Amino acid sequence: MTTHAMENRKNLLARMEAGSMALIWSGSAPHRTTDQHYAYTPQRNFFYLTNVNEPNMVLMMLKGENDTHSCLFIEENTDHIIKWEGARMEKAKAAELSGIDESNIMYEKQFKPYVAQVMNYARSVIGKPPKTLYLDLYHVKPDEKPIALDQAGFILANYKELDIKAINEHTSYLRMVKRDVEITEMAKAIEHTRKGLETIMKNLPSRTHEYQLEADFLHEITLAGSEGNAFDTIAAGGANATVLHYVANRDALDKDSLILFDLGALHNNYAADISRTYPVSGKFTKRQRDLYQIVLDVNKATIAMVKPGVTWKELNAFAKTMLIKQAKKHRLIKNDAEINELYYHSIGHFIGLDVHDVGHYDLPLKPGMVLTIEPGLYVKDEGIGIRIEDDVLVTEKGYRNLSEGIIKEIDDIEAFMKPYRQ
Ligand code: GLY
Ligand code: MN
Ligand code: MN
Repeated sequence: MTTHAMENRKNLLARMEAGSMALIWSGSAPHRTTDQHYAYTPQRNFFYLTNVNEPNMVLMMLKGENDTHSCLFIEENTDHIIKWEGARMEKAKAAELSGIDESNIMYEKQFKPYVAQVMNYARSVIGKPPKTLYLDLYHVKPDEKPIALDQAGFILANYKELDIKAINEHTSYLRMVKRDVEITEMAKAIEHTRKGLETIMKNLPSRTHEYQLEADFLHEITLAGSEGNAFDTIAAGGANATVLHYVANRDALDKDSLILFDLGALHNNYAADISRTYPVSGKFTKRQRDLYQIVLDVNKATIAMVKPGVTWKELNAFAKTMLIKQAKKHRLIKNDAEINELYYHSIGHFIGLDVHDVGHYDLPLKPGMVLTIEPGLYVKDEGIGIRIEDDVLVTEKGYRNLSEGIIKEIDDIEAFMKPYRQ
């Protein structure tokens, strides 16, 4: 992956303006309570550009008229850190992973003086001080201040002439198309997820509560070598499955109901995102079968639409139209608009280093993109929620369903669960 991080930086530098500097922080674990912190997960653009999975680092990329330069600032080990948290990554290891020459790996304390040198005409490594500062301006909510504006606060205060631009628009563009090595990582995440779902199917008939299946999944993927869940597991029995982000997973299971699982393992920071819906008992009722088959047919037909040139808009329209037709046939709805009561999310999203991966959703699909296809049907009155989600790679000719090994046909699920029925 070292060389890929180098290529990723090269591709990003090619998109940056001459006379610019990009700063990307690796982030740190958010505070949880008193002296506890949440687990650290690397800022994805930092990981993409460095192949380094460590907190409290900053990547600096510079582009002059004819020259480019990358350097990395890392945390220095102290006796306290070594004894209490374990040694931080050494310069040599950071150089090996990132492909940045060790002479360009410096300690955190050198960061501010180095920025001052770069901004100083006489000593700037790119010949002139940069005019543009690229920062990751991603923010979840429209009124939220991007964290990088605080991280770069001292630069913004001292060099007001800098034009601030969003590096994330460029990293999103690059990350949208995956390299083969990334697809291999995602395939491993999906394989862990398959194992987890098979354990769930085996245990389901003898379990009593949703959280037990959540635990079964985490247990299995951890044994398989995953670093953990890509996102909070949804284990939603009966009507809980009609709540899209139900993550409480505290309820008792009803033997006669369906249970919807939306979950995924991580592998080397790459995510899987799979939904499957199973009968708790191991056998579908006639009604559950009929509704499940609708969603399965839409899932398969929409996946079959995936190929270069197709747009998200087309995929969304196709799935919704098919759901409307089926829902009318089964007398679930009378007019088209009523489908919004039974299906209230979009057909999918890009997936990669982030579960809901960055990308430009207005562009037509290209080979190398990986997306989820996840139609659903949520009939609250009947206590039924069904979603079937796969992770699909766009290829030159069409698609490859990366999660095709995770069974979803009614007969296959029933046959798999049969030996475990109570
Ligand atoms: N797991 C979230 C989603 O399916 O988009
Ligand atoms: Mn999902
Ligand atoms: Mn999804």
